[in-house]
Amino acid sequence: MSDNVKMTAMHYDNDRPQADNPLKIMDLSLRDGHQSLFATRGRTEDMIPVAELMDEVGFWAIETWGGATFDTMHRFLNEDPWQRLRTLKRYIKKTPFSMLLRAQNLVGYRNYADDLAYAFVDRAAENGMDIFRTFDALNDYRNFETVVEQIKKSGKHFQGCICYTLTEPRLGGDVYNLDYYVGKAKELENMGADTICVKDMAGLMAPYDAYPLIKALKEAVGIPIHLHSHFTSGMSPMTHLKAIEAGVDIIDTVLTPYAYRTSHAAVEPLVMALLGTNRDTGFDIRRLAEINEILEKKILPKYKHLLDDSKVSIIDINVLLHQTPGGMLSNLVNQLREMDALDKIDEVYKELPRVRKDLGQIPLVTPTSQIVGVQTVNNVLHDTPDERYKMITGQVKDLCYGLYGKTAVPINEEVQKKALKNYPRGEEPITCRPAEVLEPELDKAKEEIGDLAADQDDLILYAQFPVTGRKFLEWKYGKAPVPDSVKPISLEDVAKRDALIKKAKEGKLIERKPDTPEKSEAVRTFNVFVDNEYFNVEVDPVGGPTVVGMQQNAAAPQPASATPSAPQPAPAAAKQPAQTAEAQPASSKSGTLLLAPMPGMVVKYLKNVGDTVSKGDTVVILEAMKMENALVAPCDGVVKENSFSSGDTVAKGAALSVIG
Ligand code: CO
Repeated sequence: MSDNVKMTAMHYDNDRPQADNPLKIMDLSLRDGHQSLFATRGRTEDMIPVAELMDEVGFWAIETWGGATFDTMHRFLNEDPWQRLRTLKRYIKKTPFSMLLRAQNLVGYRNYADDLAYAFVDRAAENGMDIFRTFDALNDYRNFETVVEQIKKSGKHFQGCICYTLTEPRLGGDVYNLDYYVGKAKELENMGADTICVKDMAGLMAPYDAYPLIKALKEAVGIPIHLHSHFTSGMSPMTHLKAIEAGVDIIDTVLTPYAYRTSHAAVEPLVMALLGTNRDTGFDIRRLAEINEILEKKILPKYKHLLDDSKVSIIDINVLLHQTPGGMLSNLVNQLREMDALDKIDEVYKELPRVRKDLGQIPLVTPTSQIVGVQTVNNVLHDTPDERYKMITGQVKDLCYGLYGKTAVPINEEVQKKALKNYPRGEEPITCRPAEVLEPELDKAKEEIGDLAADQDDLILYAQFPVTGRKFLEWKYGKAPVPDSVKPISLEDVAKRDALIKKAKEGKLIERKPDTPEKSEAVRTFNVFVDNEYFNVEVDPVGGPTVVGMQQNAAAPQPASATPSAPQPAPAAAKQPAQTAEAQPASSKSGTLLLAPMPGMVVKYLKNVGDTVSKGDTVVILEAMKMENALVAPCDGVVKENSFSSGDTVAKGAALSVIG
């Protein structure tokens, strides 16, 4: 046993004597846990049944907010993110709350202006946030300046993160080595950090790298060191133990039902492993079991359909092979699947390190993981042998301009030059703190949203999420009907769904008796929606028994793929399928169609009907995988029709505009 972990006495009871140096634990179940396993879909009403019990465990803090929760809640759950904080505070009175703050990106995906950053932190503190775990995707701490000033002004705890990333399988190399991390820790201590978190979002940290790293950090700075290491690769429980031996102060875990896969190691085995040592957590294992029982029986059945159980293995070997976050890899797979290009995955794995290197060897964490991931997919799908970076996303252009901060190594000059050609802010990249070039944005947001934002909290939500934020505020204030897809489901709903799935699995929904008659001309097809799944049901009213055949998730035929730079001129009368579209696609005007090269959401049209456009002019901005893509006119002409509205979801191949 290491010098740092000593056995004292073996006590099982929770009245055992306190350890000399108890390990502190932060619980992530209510944020990173469901973000990692259940697509961040956890509802506040499903946190309340365990909230008071969790408050009794003795956690150093409970993570309740931030990261993707703010986005997901208003977009998919019809929940006001601010209200969650106030509600949970009524049940969790002793344990501090922690949130994940993306520094100047707040809880969105770009750098926001200082006025919005001050306002957001101020309101988060007022609504009940205690610990601001702050990270910047580039580890550029100039992006901390504004939020830290407000965290301190609000009298709250500033936890500074160092994003842990590698360019090779183990710690070391030219960029991300021990010196790099020690240097970053000293920077954070000088900025007034109360604690430092090493944020290993991809689960890349090997146990024998954790030991020297934590030792070095403990020697270099005087403030507590906190380790956040995802399970994804399978190393984290070993990494935790070596970090504990090296003297780490705080470790992140989750309750068992939220554990493993791309989430975190469970707390219960760690409590048992440390029992009776000088790092004993002091937690009552029976209390943890009681919480698990409630979660397992009453809560998680509502979420289990979101669990990615396509694989039997709970460990992602790809992470060990590619040193990239699991969430990013699953996004890539989903994106390719939606575009019918899953066969390109190996090319994507090959292209990814090249794109990352071109973009300055940046760490891969939200939002840089999406930026690198989406650009990689764009390159694989759209590049030709004689032209790379054919379709550059708006976010890559911003990165090349310096809007995200300073990259670890310089960006590839050729890529940078191409990205900044005709870039509206200028073709010369900046070197100052990014937010210095951003105009204040709260007043402008207020003007746009008007009275629909009843208070500062509404306004801050809208300012970060103009399209989905407006939709949410319309639901919130009864200006638009709340769609069924964002409503909660009950345990009874789950039981019904399970019964249906069971039937389907037993073949009872599709099996036809041998004496089934031929389908007649009169057969009619109905779309039947059960929760979020839909079934294609054929009903034939003519003679004999009614025939019911079911086919799950019948996909509409996809049109040939088309890119904005290589459009397929098609008669507008050829109706494009748009199975997820809320509006009807163009079908009445003749001309050349601008097709959606990928499924996504229309952010806005930059050209109106009647506007003259030249080939290459941006007509519409399409958000796909949270990245904005400028889609350009495939030819010269006049815009005859814009077929969708801001906020509409469109399928790949949907006709967005008609130009003639
Ligand atoms: Co995390």
